[in-house]
Amino acid sequence: MDRIRIRGGRQLKGEIRISGSKNASLPLMVASLLTDRKLTLHNVPRLADITTMIQLLQQHGVTVDAAPGENGHAHGTTLTLQAGKIASTTAPYDIVRKMRASVLVLGPLLAREGLARVSLPGGCAIGARPVDLHIAGLKAMGAEIDIDGGYMVARAPQGLRGARYTFPKVSVGATENLMMAAALAKGTTVLDNAAREPEIADLAECLIAMGVPVAGAGTETLTIEGVSALKEATHSVISDRIETGTYAMAVAMTAGDIELIGGRLDLIESAVQTLRSAGVTLEQTARGLRVHRTNGALQGVDVMTEPFPGFPTDLQAQMMALMTRAEGASMITETVFESRFMHVPELSRMGANVTIHHESALVRGVPKLRGAEVMATDLRASVSLAIAALAAEGDTTLHRVYHLDRGYERLEEKLSACGADIERLKG
Ligand code: UD1
Repeated sequence: MDRIRIRGGRQLKGEIRISGSKNASLPLMVASLLTDRKLTLHNVPRLADITTMIQLLQQHGVTVDAAPGENGHAHGTTLTLQAGKIASTTAPYDIVRKMRASVLVLGPLLAREGLARVSLPGGCAIGARPVDLHIAGLKAMGAEIDIDGGYMVARAPQGLRGARYTFPKVSVGATENLMMAAALAKGTTVLDNAAREPEIADLAECLIAMGVPVAGAGTETLTIEGVSALKEATHSVISDRIETGTYAMAVAMTAGDIELIGGRLDLIESAVQTLRSAGVTLEQTARGLRVHRTNGALQGVDVMTEPFPGFPTDLQAQMMALMTRAEGASMITETVFESRFMHVPELSRMGANVTIHHESALVRGVPKLRGAEVMATDLRASVSLAIAALAAEGDTTLHRVYHLDRGYERLEEKLSACGADIERLKG
């Protein structure tokens, strides 16, 4: 298994190009199941999770052509997906267990074929993560769903019908699943307490391009008018706000100065405010945004994760890594996922001072971190260890890098181009 070695102490300087959003790309790719027409997606990142989604869709019968992205394949891939016929309505355990976002096929397959069998994703490193909201929402649209042998078996022999459904809890994935199901349902669907993440707005924009009237994206009420058939469409994936925030924190950690090309401040406003309070400068530029920290130490700030527009849970681990070197203390509260503090023992092995009290972690800044052998436990936890390593004395070896590869395109190339001492150790 690959490892990444980082020697800390270098400032990051220069520019980093932000990739297309992984979390936007996955549901957009799934939307291809709704129609026998082509869906072309530009700016899809080249990541392990995208490859897993391609495999899942191919076994459902989708043909997937990957073409080099714009600018001579320098970054991003253009995918053309076409689900001429659905070859299988089953999403097997072997693929779903690798990537939870596989459950997004449930709504579209059911809406198109009247039948879907999707493995339950099971537990995962960041808590129980149930799928009850996906099931309840589809039931409200007329589906019958049973659990059999570890699979959700969903039927809607007469097709789905539009419904009004209020989510008891905000869920990005369940909102996306129901939006796609509603596209082929009879009549109008109104989703209340829907997620407002930018990835939802991106999916809405793509569905509109495919001929589905969707209103209210970015608000807590989405209205989707079902259609009998969708059209061929082309869509460009939004930039990855989590990658943007992650590199902003890496730059802050090294007191560096970087332009994040394609990064958008408006997609990470809450993180931007938090970083500014901590003493980091962020400003929009013509090509993206500039992040730098030159004047003085980082200040400890309190953070609470919340659904969008709140501080994203997917940036919590990275923010914690940054706060390990701040002056003063920082209280980091995780309200979206239970058990999302697996990075804490690893950060502690590098000399961080963090105490967990239920859903909050108290981080007391330390004057220095030391390199160590550390283990990645999930995607965002692993990148938080890389951020800590950039400012640590000596070498850090990060094990289980496959977690990183799920969500960060060419991390070591992007960082080394800006002066980081980082290399991938193969095997
Ligand atoms: C998506 C993102 C993930 C991010 C998360 C929250 C993708 C591919 N993944 O995950 O990176 O961390 O949003 O911003 O886009 N819940 C239930 N029942 C359900 C569904 C969810 O109780 O049926 C709970 C979850 O356990 C969690 C909360 O709702 O506590 C939010 O989860 P959700 O927004 O659904 O996350 P994902 O869509 O899985």
